[in-house]
Amino acid sequence: MRILVTGGCGFIGANFLNLYVPKLRDVQFLNLDALTYAGNPLSLQSISDAENYEFRRVNLADSDATAQVVSEFQPTHIVHFAAETHVDRSIKYPRDFLNANIIGTFNLLEAARQTWGENYEGKVFHHVSTDEVFGELGETGLFSETTPYAPNSPYSASKASSDHMVRAWQHTYGLPIKITNCSNNYGPYQFPEKLIPLMSLNALAGKPLPVYGTGANIRDWLFVGDHCEAIFKVMTEGKVGETYNVGGNSERTNLQVVHALCESVADITNQSVDQVKSQITFVPDRPGHDFRYAIDASKIQKDLDWKPSQTFEKGLHQTVKWYHENTDWVESVKSGDYQTWIDSHYGQPGVSTK
Ligand code: DAU
Repeated sequence: MRILVTGGCGFIGANFLNLYVPKLRDVQFLNLDALTYAGNPLSLQSISDAENYEFRRVNLADSDATAQVVSEFQPTHIVHFAAETHVDRSIKYPRDFLNANIIGTFNLLEAARQTWGENYEGKVFHHVSTDEVFGELGETGLFSETTPYAPNSPYSASKASSDHMVRAWQHTYGLPIKITNCSNNYGPYQFPEKLIPLMSLNALAGKPLPVYGTGANIRDWLFVGDHCEAIFKVMTEGKVGETYNVGGNSERTNLQVVHALCESVADITNQSVDQVKSQITFVPDRPGHDFRYAIDASKIQKDLDWKPSQTFEKGLHQTVKWYHENTDWVESVKSGDYQTWIDSHYGQPGVSTK
């Protein structure tokens, strides 16, 4: 196997490489990453000198560079993580999402097709996507693989578009594709613009914990290590042309997540839980905020015998501890762009404090 990973310096890609590069010594890995604000080579420190790993800085929006590097590496498997992924940023800068997620995926599909020619034997193009393509749920129901697409944000619309292209490249050109649509991931190396790392760092620093609206929105939380194992299973054992939903079976309201996180922070820093909770601040809601996401993961469980192994409370505690202990990594991401985002996005005063 020769595995080409795109976006390997991002959160899920880095966790995937950190898990499989040491585990699969006979497999050659190439990581293509544009190193935008959310990509951090420090996340891959433990494997950067491994003989079966190499890195190339490539932006998938550059079609020539993408075609050339794919052709040079001659992958058997492509795992496509590279994407702009933060919903709030997509509301402010939608064009970046169209370029990275739509044009980037198009260029990668074309590069794979050119490199593989008609010889698709033993080849896989695995596209990593999100449950947000299905839109939002009310109080009940679950997203299955046959739920119609109804994306609501520029981010999810761009991911939906990329899913459609990947599917069409199989239907039209016979490209051997697989797609996974996952729920909200959390764990080490996540850029602190997303709920759990942002709240963890703010709670540890004694800063406000900005909950959008009333905190009643619901997400289904999936530990990133479980997600990486699901991707590997689908890539190696899943059926070509199929889509698999990957969920954590851990639905929580945002307020429940923040309360659980406050308990972990209190435990780690020897403070009272009430003291940490007093940092919670309710701020104006996200425009078009999807109410609830929840995944029906019965297909991947039944067909590939995968289910999440991490419980939410244990995984969350482990994650908060990781952010507490990995100060070098945390400092390395809190540079100019991060601070600019935090100032521009959270500059507004809190509505009320609890
Ligand atoms: O469902 C999978 C998706 O989950 C991924 O495809 C996306 O890349 C990922 O960003 C995530 O989308 P969300 O919008 O659900 O994630 P985020 O961490 O931004 O927000 C989670 C929830 O927490 C959401 O209801 C908004 C809320 N929130 C978020 C932030 C950053 C707050 O209340 N306050 C905040 O400061």
